[in-house]
Amino acid sequence: MKTRLTELFGIEHPIIQGGMHYVGFAELAAAVSNAGGLGIITGLTQRTPELLAAEIARCRAMTDRPFGVNLTFLPTVNAPDYPGYVRAIIEGGVGIVETAGNNPAPWLPALHAAGVRVIHKCTSVKHALKAEAIGCDAVSVDGFECGGHPGESDIPNFILLPRAADELSIPFAASGGMADGRSLVAALSFGADAINLGTRFIATREAPVHDNVKQAIVNASELDTRLIMRPLRNTERVMNNAAVERLLAKEKELGDRLRFEDIIAEVAGVYPRIMQQGEMDAGAWSCGMVAGLIHDIPSVGELIDRIMAEAESIIGQRLRRLVEA
Ligand SMILES: Cc1cc2nc3c(=O)[nH]c(=O)nc-3n(C[C@H](O)[C@H](O)[C@H](O)COP(=O)(O)O)c2cc1C
Repeated sequence: MKTRLTELFGIEHPIIQGGMHYVGFAELAAAVSNAGGLGIITGLTQRTPELLAAEIARCRAMTDRPFGVNLTFLPTVNAPDYPGYVRAIIEGGVGIVETAGNNPAPWLPALHAAGVRVIHKCTSVKHALKAEAIGCDAVSVDGFECGGHPGESDIPNFILLPRAADELSIPFAASGGMADGRSLVAALSFGADAINLGTRFIATREAPVHDNVKQAIVNASELDTRLIMRPLRNTERVMNNAAVERLLAKEKELGDRLRFEDIIAEVAGVYPRIMQQGEMDAGAWSCGMVAGLIHDIPSVGELIDRIMAEAESIIGQRLRRLVEA
């Protein structure tokens, strides 16, 4: 299948693995790229630019296909060493960067001068148009159903994707709620050029996370995610658990008086305990509503082949039969 994004990134299938904190290590990124998709290493999971450089080298040893690095620009006072991370990406010869969070404009000149393609993740048409205007090569449009940060406008993909298609000239990936061949065909129908998957790729054999995390996704339904940090305008969709219920009780009790410090125990530094130690109630971890569509833990290759075969069968058989009837 050829789309503007398979051409832009030099990949075989229009399938991208979004950056995921403490999930997007070299093992997963390489597995996705080797299966013909675009794997992405999560930059900030590596605590220093030197560690990111080493992770890029590890990934390169596992695949000779294109892969990317996610750079998430956080609204923090003590910013990570972003110039160092950008240098590690460029010097590591990485050709694709997925940016997310704050406006990536300050980093575009250096990345573009090095020939790096930038795909910026947005949760609204307004921000997607801004990304286009500042010169991003593509965007990932993340609907309300997504795992992680869906923004504050709460527009689900059935509306957001066709709205993005109507407004944008640059190619875009449909992100949030993408699980299978049906998702891919729907996304293409809406005008997208690829799908970006987060949660679905966690429940794969190669995802370097504890089995408890994969099993929690398989066991969950579409009713099991919650939105946290709404009062802080930093909304995150997470899997419900004991820590999340505690956090939501505090949000309810404190209302507008809630400060980040009140919920620090439930959100700060919890990812290694969850993803690596499998302590499922240690804190809040991002998870999409798509958990309700995830029932197994295939290899990345099996998953990608299945998505492509299902999509081709829907287009070539079911849809063709309908129009020819
Ligand atoms: C566990 C987890 C961690 C994530 N961490 C990040 C991150 O560090 N940076 C980022 O830009 N997006 C992050 N995301 C969002 C994903 O890249 C992707 O946009 C999202 O998962 C798509 O929605 P889906 O889960 O419904 O597929 C994360 C998602 C999950 C599930």
